Amino acid sequence: MLIAANWKMNPEGVAHARKIFDGIKSTATKIRGVETVVCPPSVFVGDLRSKATGKRLVLGAQDAHPEAHGSYTGEVSALALKSLGLRYVILGHSERRAMGERSDLVARKVEAALRSGLSVIVCVGEKSRDRDGEYLDWVKNELLASIRGVSKKDLERLTIAYEPLWAIGENARRPARAEDVFQMTIFIRKVLSDVYGSSYAKRSRILYGGSVDAENAESFLEEGRVDGLLVGRASRDPKAFAKILEMASNRR
Ligand code: PGA
Repeated sequence: MLIAANWKMNPEGVAHARKIFDGIKSTATKIRGVETVVCPPSVFVGDLRSKATGKRLVLGAQDAHPEAHGSYTGEVSALALKSLGLRYVILGHSERRAMGERSDLVARKVEAALRSGLSVIVCVGEKSRDRDGEYLDWVKNELLASIRGVSKKDLERLTIAYEPLWAIGENARRPARAEDVFQMTIFIRKVLSDVYGSSYAKRSRILYGGSVDAENAESFLEEGRVDGLLVGRASRDPKAFAKILEMASNRR
């Protein structure tokens, strides 16, 4: 199981970041069968990296530029993140897509991050659902465009996070139901199998993200049949996040 914490642009200061991280660490290092990935704002990584154990508890970033270096003011490259010991990077998050990031740019970022040695968590998800099932084609197209350059040998380092936009963040309408997630887990696995073959497609992990909390996490893990969760708000509450980690450990 993989449980990823997306802190987004939180908390406001490094002292608070340390406190949340210490709270998460005390559970993440105790439980078995779960890899916990904390993705803080990159500015806090230098401070937190000495606390990450490197085995059960690792650090990730929330974005990375597709070029290795150059005149890109304000950007951070995948290679720079890798050099600090980060293991993962979230790419194509809906909040970045809402800022204008398109799937072709996400695909370039995915390729660069994999080349640098990082594992990637690529986010996909529809804005809304329709009765005719057109949202399935929408998710398929977004996924295939975002992982265009991924080869079979990279699938072990590719994780897909299914995050329906209507269930994400502070303006979420409601969390998805476990059956919505189950349907999409099967669908995404099929899309991967059609491209890479089923034995290779199994190597990638599929996560659910969107309003996950300590109350609903178990149903996503159990009935949604995902390989883990991408957690936003609840990942900044060490007590709630600890419960989610324990549920994941019991499900492995
Ligand atoms: P949320 O965020 O859990 O606060 O809905 C999830 C995400 O945006 O990754």
